[in-house]
Amino acid sequence: LIPVIAIDGPSASGKGTVAARVAAALGWHYLDSGALYRLTALAVLQRGLQLDDAQQVTAVAAALDVSFLEGMILLDGEDATELIRAEAVGEAASKVAVLPSVRAALLQRQRDFARAPGLVADGRDMGSAVFPEATLKVFLTASAEERASRRYKQLIAKGESVNILQILQDIEQRDARDRARSVAPLQQLPDAHLLDTTQLSIEQAVKAVLDWWQA
Ligand code: CDP
Repeated sequence: LIPVIAIDGPSASGKGTVAARVAAALGWHYLDSGALYRLTALAVLQRGLQLDDAQQVTAVAAALDVSFLEGMILLDGEDATELIRAEAVGEAASKVAVLPSVRAALLQRQRDFARAPGLVADGRDMGSAVFPEATLKVFLTASAEERASRRYKQLIAKGESVNILQILQDIEQRDARDRARSVAPLQQLPDAHLLDTTQLSIEQAVKAVLDWWQA
């Protein structure tokens, strides 16, 4: 059995950074499941299809031609690493992610990342739907204000002109949608460790996960 560490949490909580560093520290594989939803959304937009056309979007998800190469993400052989991080693609991703058939189409692809010596996977439903048998489950969060401030700094560093109150509002709306949706709602599982990173550095958060793993 391949060991899996599942890290779930809300938008802009920093779970991706923490998960990638935990994977690097252990020498394990890393799955950014949100990237698969973002790639599906980007492919749908590039093909000029409608985001709510379940049949077409599911076909795109099932046939997705992606490769993850040392921090680079290719879609149809083209570098999509930066493109999928655009706010518009994140919005579109959250729309395709509500379609049960899209989630089903991406399920096996996600499970295939579990290869020796182990996998660290981050997302919304890693510990519930994709890897319910995960060895360690973590629910990583931070206050909405702290997450807004982290995203603000990221966008400023990218040279984008942004409004922090707008970002906070977007995060609160995304939280409400993620929690309320009928498929794969974001939830804190009874067997997950709660990691509130509001007052923690990345290093402290990484250490907390490694300590639970080694315990
Ligand atoms: O952190 P942020 O929400 O900006 O992005 P992400 O983690 O890359 O996820 C992009 C979108 O995919 C989100 O809107 C999630 O709702 C959705 N998603 C999902 O439904 N299930 C996952 N396992 C991962 C992401």
